[in-house]
Amino acid sequence: MATRHLVAEESELAEDGDRVLTDVRGTEVAVFRVDGEFHALANFCVHQGGPLCEGELSGEYGVADDGWTWAYDDRQKNITCPWHGWRFDVRDGESIDDDQYRVPTYDVETEDGAVYILR
Ligand code: FES
Repeated sequence: MATRHLVAEESELAEDGDRVLTDVRGTEVAVFRVDGEFHALANFCVHQGGPLCEGELSGEYGVADDGWTWAYDDRQKNITCPWHGWRFDVRDGESIDDDQYRVPTYDVETEDGAVYILR
């Protein structure tokens, strides 16, 4: 059964794009705020073990609603590993570039202004 761990106060994650990096039972974990929701990701890149969660956040280009043009989704949901540039979606840990890769994620709960992860 997963145990709940306090990782931050909600006030530390007040804006989209904010993140808190912490240690939970010997594992580095980051909690990100994306689109008003919290997501937790292991600070471990599945390529060569780089500090993924210390990388840059960004949005993403995709096909616009008209199906013909490009549109930029500016939600800061993608993290780029600072070592070699692999990119992952912080909401589900999935690789942006190759769906055979995924970084561990953790469930997040909030209560009374505090943010917890389950691990
Ligand atoms: S260790 Fe992250 S891209 Fe290489």
